[in-house]
Order: sequence, then C-alpha cells, then structure tokens
Amino acid sequence: MTDRPNAPLLEVRSLRVEFETRRGPLVAIDDVSFSIAPGEVLGVVGESGAGKSLTGTAIIGLLEPPGRITAGEILLAGRRIDNLPYEAMRRIRGREVGAIFQDPLTSLNPLYRVSDQLIETIRTHLPMNEKEARARALQLLQEVGIPGAAERLDHYPHQFSGGMRQRVVIALALAAEPKLIIADEPTTALDVSIQAQIITLLKRLCREHGTAVMLITHDMGVIAETADRVAVMYAGRIAEIGPVRKVVQEPHHPYTVGLMGAIPNLGHDVAALTQIEGSMPRLNAIPPGCAFNPRCPKVFDRCRVDRPDPMPVGGSDVACWLYGEGR
Ligand SMILES: Nc1ncnc2c1ncn2[C@@H]1O[C@H](COP(=O)(O)OP(=O)(O)OP(=O)(O)O)[C@@H](O)[C@H]1O
Ligand code: SF4
Ligand SMILES: [Mg+2]
Repeated sequence: MTDRPNAPLLEVRSLRVEFETRRGPLVAIDDVSFSIAPGEVLGVVGESGAGKSLTGTAIIGLLEPPGRITAGEILLAGRRIDNLPYEAMRRIRGREVGAIFQDPLTSLNPLYRVSDQLIETIRTHLPMNEKEARARALQLLQEVGIPGAAERLDHYPHQFSGGMRQRVVIALALAAEPKLIIADEPTTALDVSIQAQIITLLKRLCREHGTAVMLITHDMGVIAETADRVAVMYAGRIAEIGPVRKVVQEPHHPYTVGLMGAIPNLGHDVAALTQIEGSMPRLNAIPPGCAFNPRCPKVFDRCRVDRPDPMPVGGSDVACWLYGEGR
C-alpha cells in the first residue's frame, strides 16, 4: 500500500449492489473496496456501465429500487452509514456528504431563488439565523467565483449560464462544509473551455476546506491533473487502484493499459491511439473468471475460470492473474 498517513474518512468494504429482476438478481457492483482519506481526491474511471455512478449513489444512500446493497459496509469517519434509516441518512447527506451531478438542474430547484436554496441548506445544517446564513450564502458565491455575486444572489437558476450554474451547485454542495463530496461527471454537460475552470475550482476549494472528493469521470486527462489516487472500474469491480502517477504512467492491469493508450498528451503519440476492442459485458452476461477476459490481449487459461481479487503490485492494487502466484 502507499504511504497514507491520515485515517480514512470514507471506507467502502466489499460492497455489493444487486438489481432484483424477474429472472433473478443482477449483480451490478461486486466486492468493491476502497477508501478515501481526508482532503484526498480519488478519481474513478471506467467505461460507460462500469458501475461508477452506482457506487457513488450507494455511498450517499440514494440507490433506487430495485437496486439495493446486498453485502458489504460503508463507513464515514468510522461510522457505518449503509444501514441507517432514511431520515438519519438524509441528515448526513448535505451535512457530511455533498453531491455534485452532471446536470446542475438536478441539484437546483428552478422555482426558487439561488439565495433561498443556499440559505435553506445552510440553516438546515448549521446553527445560523437568516441574516448570518445570507451572509454565508454570499460569501460562498464569491468563493466559487461568480462575478457580481451580491446582485446574482437573488437570481433564479435559469438566469445563470451552464458554467455559472455548476458553480452555484458547488457552492450548494460546500454550504454545510461536508467532509466528503461525491462529484459524478460534474463537467460533462459544460463547454470544454469551462470544464477545466470548474475542475480547478473544485480541487482548490476542497483542498482549502480539507474536503475529500470522489471524482467520477470518463476523462483520464482530468484525473491525471486532479486526482491523488485513481480507481479503474470494469464490469462492477475494481480492476486497478493506486496513486495517480503510478496508474497513469505504469498501468498494470491490461484494461488500464488499454485505457491509458487511449489518451493523448500523456507521453503517447496521438497516432498510436489505441481502442480496446469489443465492449463491456452486460450485467446478465459477465463471463466467469476475470470479467475482462474476452477482450484481454494477455488472457490465459486461469483467467477464464478463477476470478482475480485486487493484489498489491508496485504501489497499486491490481485484480489480474498476471501478478498472481504460480504465474
Ligand atoms: N435501475 C437499474 N436497473 C437495472 N440495471 C441498472 C439500473 N441502473 C443502473 N443499472 C446498471 O448498472 C450498471 C452500472 O451503471 P452505472 O450507472 O453505475 O454506470 P457508470 O459507470 O456510471 O456509467 P456511465 O459512465 O455511463 O455513467 C450498468 O450496467 C447499468 O445498466
Ligand atoms: S486476469 Fe487474465 S484476462 Fe484478466 S486482465 Fe489479467 S491477464 Fe487479462
Ligand atoms: Mg455514471
């Protein structure tokens, strides 16, 4: 393991999420374990359908039926949060864990002024009167870089541009000073020119506030610039997790190797852009053994039979038999 002096803020242990269907349960998240330290940014990457959002949703207690956690534990600051009653979890959401989603409009109510939404969140979680909460709301808008914040405080969400609206969402997520923020594709809906600004802002604010971040994205470039560690997910499992520099520069899992080959600007020639052939299996057709085996250029017999668990390899943890015993 890498040297991580802080005790973990978030611990996910052997998490399993299933969907009940008429034909029996579908396993969408299978034995996923990771932790995030205070102030640390964990990037989570992987193809569409890998289980990134479901993992985030399970952590904040917003899985919708028929999806449910069927095994494992989630701990926040040492306390289990996966089995709390709805009301107790609702208090943790917002106060201790903030969320930022791809579409700012899922977090903002179009019918209320931004000031009302910020003040309500602040007053729900912090002991402040209306006036104090309004002052804090203004300070937050200034902190997230909204020009003319004093005038804009009483505007409605539709009066902001997409990028400014996502800044408002970041202000809302930070309003109660949570210890953890789950950001799920926070910039995907925005113009490319604005994406980097928002990510830089999120990173700076979280660093200043000591907030831990789980940053879900398709964008390896964003991860390379923002994350301290990165988890690569494939078919509901973690294929590789480790310090970002290790994973980007010395990927071990053949799937990570393929992903890294697919990003320009990381020392690779754009002309050498590789695409991983094939596609990720559906939940009802995950092959036995290693889920990546039908697409893996390094596949061998054991891969089709035994499922590899993450094992320590050069500072990372890698779920691949190439690094297993007897190989
Ligand atoms: N309500 C549901 N019922 C059945 N399967 C679901 C449901 N919601 C999600 N899934 C499945 O769970 C798997 C993981 O989905 P998830 O949304 O976590 O993927 P993701 O990694 O976030 O993908 P993307 O990059 O497209 O956002 C997918 O196979 C998806 O089809
Ligand atoms: S376990 Fe086998 S199939 Fe899976 S990634 Fe490693 S070499 Fe490839
Ligand atoms: Mg998703």
